[in-house]
Amino acid sequence: MVPESTTTVRPELAARTAPRPRLTLANVVKSFAGRTVVDVEDLSLGNHPIEGLIGPNGAGKTTLMRLIMGSLKADSGQIRLERAGHRDVVLSRLHAHKIAQCGVVKTNQVITDFDGLTILDSLLLSVTPERREFPLHLMGERATYEEHRAEIERQLDHFGLENTRRLALSAGEKKLVDIIRCLLLKPAVLLLDEPTAGLPGEVTQKVMDAVDDLAGNGTTVVIIEHDLDVIWNLCTQVTFMAEGRVMLRGEPSEIREHSTVVESYLGQGHV
Ligand SMILES: Nc1ncnc2c1ncn2[C@@H]1O[C@H](COP(=O)(O)OP(=O)(O)OP(=O)(O)O)[C@@H](O)[C@H]1O
Ligand SMILES: [Mg+2]
Repeated sequence: MVPESTTTVRPELAARTAPRPRLTLANVVKSFAGRTVVDVEDLSLGNHPIEGLIGPNGAGKTTLMRLIMGSLKADSGQIRLERAGHRDVVLSRLHAHKIAQCGVVKTNQVITDFDGLTILDSLLLSVTPERREFPLHLMGERATYEEHRAEIERQLDHFGLENTRRLALSAGEKKLVDIIRCLLLKPAVLLLDEPTAGLPGEVTQKVMDAVDDLAGNGTTVVIIEHDLDVIWNLCTQVTFMAEGRVMLRGEPSEIREHSTVVESYLGQGHV
């Protein structure tokens, strides 16, 4: 019998213990028409595998994620990405497509459309390197599909999406395709904006499992949710925002009991 090596570290364990990609925000301010909607003095995301971001409607949660993604530019302040083995990057100085190239990816709160692409094509497009992106011709598509087939099939199977050579039909299906698109990219940082809103309970569980799996492989996940069961189940660190500011940060048990959160967000009689 071959004795088990005591020095070999399984890749998934190494990923769980390695330092994660970290976002740090310093004095990040965004105003619309003179009204400040984000004003974050000092926030670091990625010290925990899955971080929750909660707060009332209009708190600035989506805006904060859009500032990280570069789809909105901050009026002032700095957003940095730190990754082991990479040079630190000041994301707030980069264009959105460069930020995506750094491995920072976001799902959308509201899905508009996939430009008439079938489910399969929109997933293929998401994993297609830029040089092959246009046109998505037959050879390019086949090469991309072969490279990514196993993972695409695994995800489609996990979410029970069948017959993928058709357009995504329901809002829920579109949402799932958007989530799978992000999972396939194996991002350094994944920002999820209400990923389970409007999805049935069993699909919510599948999303939670997939997110947990991704985080287990080293991705830093930040998740916005109003379904607080998702937050309490997945996250080990929660940030509570209101009126654009970070009001509290802590473990789920601290946050859910805190009088500020209870009074301004959870309301009376929460469990
Ligand atoms: N492009 C914009 N132009 C003007 N105001 C905006 C814009 N985007 C967001 N806002 C405003 O900024 C505030 C914060 O909005 P944001 O969407 O970030 O909130 P949120 O915390 O994600 O809320 P919800 O939980 O409802 O999704 C809101 O008052 C919103 O109306
Ligand atoms: Mg929002």
